[in-house]
Amino acid sequence: MSWLILVPDDRAAMTRHPAERQDQPALRLVVHSIREIAERVKTFELVSPDGSELPRFSAGAHIDVVLGEGLIRQYSLCNNPRERDHYQIAVLLEEQGRGGSRAMHAVNLGASLPVSYPRNNFALDLGADEYVLIAGGIGITPFIPMIYELERAGKAYALHYCARSPERMPFRELIPAIIRNGRFHFYFRDGVAARGLKPDRLLEHNGEEHLYFCGPQSLMDAVKAASKLWPSGSVHSEYFDNKMLVAAKSDGAEAFEVILAASKLSVRVPPDVSIVSALEAHGIVIPTSCEQGVCGTCCVEYMEGEPIHRDLVLTPDEQLKFIATCCSRSATRRLVLKL
Ligand code: FES
Repeated sequence: MSWLILVPDDRAAMTRHPAERQDQPALRLVVHSIREIAERVKTFELVSPDGSELPRFSAGAHIDVVLGEGLIRQYSLCNNPRERDHYQIAVLLEEQGRGGSRAMHAVNLGASLPVSYPRNNFALDLGADEYVLIAGGIGITPFIPMIYELERAGKAYALHYCARSPERMPFRELIPAIIRNGRFHFYFRDGVAARGLKPDRLLEHNGEEHLYFCGPQSLMDAVKAASKLWPSGSVHSEYFDNKMLVAAKSDGAEAFEVILAASKLSVRVPPDVSIVSALEAHGIVIPTSCEQGVCGTCCVEYMEGEPIHRDLVLTPDEQLKFIATCCSRSATRRLVLKL
């Protein structure tokens, strides 16, 4: 079978789209250093093989790292965005995970890894005067470049960072060293819930602040609930994985028909098959990465129909126009994609 790889033809729309680049991994970087910075957390410094400068990235950006056949993972860049000689990522080893962190922790110094250009689904909006940053565990990674940028811009901000214990808190020593104008608060539960971060109290009153949060699902749920009365444009989050998707898989959504606007090709999407997989069976490839609705790589514009959105990457406004084809479905019998 010959494959046809499709991306939206509206390049202007692409610039507004969360998946800033839908191309395949385009860099090959060398692992220059590996450090264990907390229990089960390693940082990896990646450089170009010839020492040349790397493409710029903005605070909150991530890269896709190809760790093997079909094994692609997204990691936030966690060094100063002004540094052009390397990218740094931090990876928590999750023994019960899907295999990405085990593969990454097995990588050795000098290894050569295919890596995408940086993409940013969690960009820092420097238009606000004040910021609240909430991080849990390895969810701190996108906030390290944000701290550098907020410091540089002279903004007022407070970082609230929780971990199970000091030993399990990545960048515990770095953070006090790089924060000058902002404030930071560390929370260690050490098995005592009362010592933990209390999002409902913290977010009770909001003024003009912008809120950014990233961490484990329980923290995400608590912060989302506590900030539900904040203006939507002031709340920003980034998810590691998509628990909603796991729950949704068992709810038996109906089959529907996907129509490609340009070719009028019509493809049936059965209940247990994604739009991406259904199209792939007909030789149509939409590039994917996370395949669970958190990275934005597979998002395309739709023209007709009513999607059932199951992603965690598109904003409500973006969902009026785009659909994550790796995980979302259709409430209508027909869904026309602008492809
Ligand atoms: S592939 Fe990541 S959102 Fe679909």
